Amino acid sequence: MRDSCGRTIDYLRLSVTDLCNYRCQYCMPPEGVEKRLHSDILSIEELAEIAAAAVRCGVKKIRLTGGEPLVRRGLPDLCRMLRAIPGLAELCLTTNGSLLPQLARPLRDAGVDRLNISLDTLRPDRFAAMTRLGTLQDVLAGIKAAEAAGFRNLKFDTVLIGGFNDDEIEDFVNLSREHPWEMRFIELMPMGPCAGWDRNRFLPAETVLDRMAELEPIEAQGVARRYQLPGALGTVGLISPVSHDFCADCRRIRVTADGKLKGCLHSREEIPLRGLHGQALEDAVRRGILHKPERHHLTERSSDTPRNMNQIGG
Ligand code: GTP
Ligand code: 5AD
Ligand code: SF4
Repeated sequence: MRDSCGRTIDYLRLSVTDLCNYRCQYCMPPEGVEKRLHSDILSIEELAEIAAAAVRCGVKKIRLTGGEPLVRRGLPDLCRMLRAIPGLAELCLTTNGSLLPQLARPLRDAGVDRLNISLDTLRPDRFAAMTRLGTLQDVLAGIKAAEAAGFRNLKFDTVLIGGFNDDEIEDFVNLSREHPWEMRFIELMPMGPCAGWDRNRFLPAETVLDRMAELEPIEAQGVARRYQLPGALGTVGLISPVSHDFCADCRRIRVTADGKLKGCLHSREEIPLRGLHGQALEDAVRRGILHKPERHHLTERSSDTPRNMNQIGG
């Protein structure tokens, strides 16, 4: 279905939990978020019902997000239910990777097509400091498990943070030489805990091109401008929501773990979907698509949404 600006909307980002086993400094406060009542969060059945309504409205790709989607109990069951929806072309998941040693195989068996893994640093000490609760070793084991389970075309998401990981740009890009992976760099968006961070921590994605002169442009895909090192197996992606907004080409809607439809990551408006079924649910999704904001109001200093990233799902 098209929105009121003529954009085709065919991509749903469905958040299955706002909880996470990590506390990345830019995303969550050190104490984490208050655990909500079980009943405040969409049940597996409600998630599947919303997904099916979205597919009836023209959604072809669903990406499960969080918080950390893999902490949600029953996730493989949900994936199996989503995979059975006629008309769904692709089921993807964005994860911090730490629970993939246990879950990569069940998720693959349940029909998940593709994984994107967040990875902000390749240094164990920095990883522990940034995630507060994580170890790099777990994620590296998770990546191995994902490949062993048959996941191909892995993408890695690295949030660029000045003074934290900008000296690792080359190391990340170099991983694309030997691996068929897409190494992506994302501009830090001023939301939640990082909204007030020092300006020099927000780096434009162009920093990657300045540091790696060998990168050659290739065809863009989704929200990422893409590049490749000569002869490399993999690619490099730049996601620049702050310096080059991609709103004109946006194909997504989002549903939060508490059942609110959002037309844009950064918008304030939300349409409650809970309690709606059948045609009423479908109508609400259509309304959300139609009224998707034309563009986001994200600047270097602020986003309009009062939610933290873990409550939206990126
Ligand atoms: P593909 O299906 O592989 O194209 O994945 P994707 O890029 O849609 O999903 P992923 O979850 O890997 O998103 C990458 C990052 O882009 C996220 O971590 C978010 O930080 C950011 N992002 C995703 N969607 C949006 C959006 O609509 N607006 C903005 N500003 N940033 C977004
Ligand atoms: N700016 C940019 N990316 C962010 N993410 C979380 N918070 C932010 C932010 N403020 C990213 C994570 C992960 C994805 C789900 O969202 O690093 O890659
Ligand atoms: Fe968890 Fe992702 Fe937020 Fe880190 S960025 S705390 S891994 S939801």
